[in-house]
Amino acid sequence: METAFKLDLLHRPRRLRRTATRRAMVEETVLRPADFIAPLFVVEGKAPPDEIRSMPGVFRLGLPDLVKECRALFKLGVPAVALFPKLDPKLKDPEGTQALNEDTLVLRAVRAVKKAVPELVVITDVALDPYTSHGHDGVLTPAQDDVENDRTVGILARMAVLQAQAGVDFVAPSDMMDGRVGAVRRALDAAGYTNTGILAYSAKYNSAYYGPFRDAVGSAQAAGTRLLSKATYQMNPANRREAITEVLLDEAEGADIVMVKPAGMYLDIIRDVREATRRPVAAYQISGEYAQIHAAARLGWLDLARCRHESLLAIKRAGADLILTYFAKDMAAALR
Ligand code: PBG
Repeated sequence: METAFKLDLLHRPRRLRRTATRRAMVEETVLRPADFIAPLFVVEGKAPPDEIRSMPGVFRLGLPDLVKECRALFKLGVPAVALFPKLDPKLKDPEGTQALNEDTLVLRAVRAVKKAVPELVVITDVALDPYTSHGHDGVLTPAQDDVENDRTVGILARMAVLQAQAGVDFVAPSDMMDGRVGAVRRALDAAGYTNTGILAYSAKYNSAYYGPFRDAVGSAQAAGTRLLSKATYQMNPANRREAITEVLLDEAEGADIVMVKPAGMYLDIIRDVREATRRPVAAYQISGEYAQIHAAARLGWLDLARCRHESLLAIKRAGADLILTYFAKDMAAALR
């Protein structure tokens, strides 16, 4: 004979999960449009938006469409965009000369966006990879077996000043050269741009998940420079303590915001960084993270909207104050 099984429990955590209202009352992490920064790809000309093969729903935009997209994002409550230029391969050379052209694509894009949507925060990458024919983030030694750290930093500091001059709110060194944050800060200050901030890619890992981004900006031939790997400047995915070393250096050198990249596979790093600094912490949900979710959704294996939300919620819960994500617009629209 079965007798009803009864537990004599003082604590029943499920009480707080019984209804949607109760669950909402005790929710610890909430996403809002202001958490997001939208990365946008910019191209020359007025051709219709060109979808990136490995990033469904992400387009390379000519300036008129870029401006339209920025207006739409700001209207949806997304406070910031990060601009990435895709250059005509003919303009690339080993020295990344176009990075110092005062009228280069990304600078024209910044001016157009700041003019049209002055309140939108505009962020630009400080790194040479969109400009170099070899796809590396810096200039190379004569033997092509290393990036020349200090010479690269000199170029990056000038690049940052040009971006400040064009009106960006934050420059974002994403190159991982040693000492670049300090050099950029000093160069900005010397040129009078004390209000231009630095969003430092502090703990940037050498990730295989950057693939779709390299499609997007055409920097993939980096893999083809046989003598040199980005592993000589981007961090080893095996390392955790080293992230704190990088973050504390960037903070000491003047970073206003520090970043962890990628985000989803590096939640432990985001948490460590959150506990190691009082600066705002940003995290970059990168192209490969976005592509994975879309690919599985296309196959009917995952629910796109729910996975998108959960992936971003996890990044915020881990300790990120700001999230760069290709889902920014869709999320902001979904949260309304
Ligand atoms: C390099 C840079 C990378 C990304 C943005 N800037 C990585 C790289 O090619 O090494 C990747 C972003 C993404 O995958 O979404 N300066």
